[in-house]
Amino acid sequence: MAPQLVEIVEVGPRDGLQNERVRVATATKVRFVEALVAAGLRRIEVSSFVHPQAIPQLADAEKVFSLLHRDPNVRYSALVPNARGLTRAIAAGVSEIAVFTAASDTFVRHNIRMSQQQSLELFRPVVAEALANGISVRGYVSTVFGCPYEGKITAEQGIAVAEALLAMGCREVSIGDTIGLATPGDVRRWLAAAEDRLPIDQIAMHFHDTRGTALANVLMGLEAGVRVFDSSAGGLGGCPYAPGASGNLATEDLIFALHGMGFDTGVDLPRLVQASATIAAELDHLLPSRYFQAARVQSCLPVA
Ligand code: COA
Ligand code: ZN
Repeated sequence: MAPQLVEIVEVGPRDGLQNERVRVATATKVRFVEALVAAGLRRIEVSSFVHPQAIPQLADAEKVFSLLHRDPNVRYSALVPNARGLTRAIAAGVSEIAVFTAASDTFVRHNIRMSQQQSLELFRPVVAEALANGISVRGYVSTVFGCPYEGKITAEQGIAVAEALLAMGCREVSIGDTIGLATPGDVRRWLAAAEDRLPIDQIAMHFHDTRGTALANVLMGLEAGVRVFDSSAGGLGGCPYAPGASGNLATEDLIFALHGMGFDTGVDLPRLVQASATIAAELDHLLPSRYFQAARVQSCLPVA
């Protein structure tokens, strides 16, 4: 039997870098994205067309897109918060945008300064215009398993937002555990609650590893039939609007586990480690990916 495919959406250049203190040079970002492509990643969230003062780390989005040598087999996407962001994304020639809202109203207000309901109304025409321009759209639902401001979030809150995003034309919804609160039990219960409401082939899952449960949560997603996961190379990441959020699940760790389970991802692990190394050199801390760290230590050991 041919191995089953799992799609990885690499979010390190966006979700990762937006939370790094260090400003990474534009040329390094471009090299990083190109190295990720060379490692076999086919979906990469490159940057954000948000207000440059909201996320100064990604203020060079246009520059990054203009310098990239693009591979026609790769979907290069960007986060877009409103119509102005879409105009910028179209001018930059992105192949996919991501719109974003959250399961909790307070989080949306902190993030994009409007209510959850207003965010859905704002995105409806943005999604329609993107589709009219041949750009596919994914929708993020943040804080699905808990909110830094509101605490516990019910499954119904996230499911309703995901339904609204799919209804307006998003091809996929990414279900986000923004502050890394979910346990495997929570994920299993959430997916069971969503089973009759959301098509499983339009669900992606986005875990942060704040409390060490991200990879276990992926397994619960796999068990329920989810085949798209977001992760960031080296485990870069977090969210400046989510106090205490730490990095995304590391792409290396995810792929190591998936390959061991017999899934195909199209990604070459040694080349992925090389891609992460291009960014590691510019950071003020060690990359958290355990696989990355092990690979680096082992490459220094004498061959027996
Ligand atoms: N790109 C660049 N500039 C933008 C913009 C965009 N996408 N959206 C709005 N602006 C500009 C407007 O043109 C306006 O400029 P002016 O003052 O020179 O006329 C100014 O920003 C204010 O516009 P307004 O619509 O009132 O926006 P706001 O100040 O309420 O900010 C957002 C709203 C959504 C643009 C801003 O909060 C944002 O970018 N947030 C992103 C948060 C994020 O990325 N979070 C990470 C995800 S976890
Ligand atoms: Zn995230």
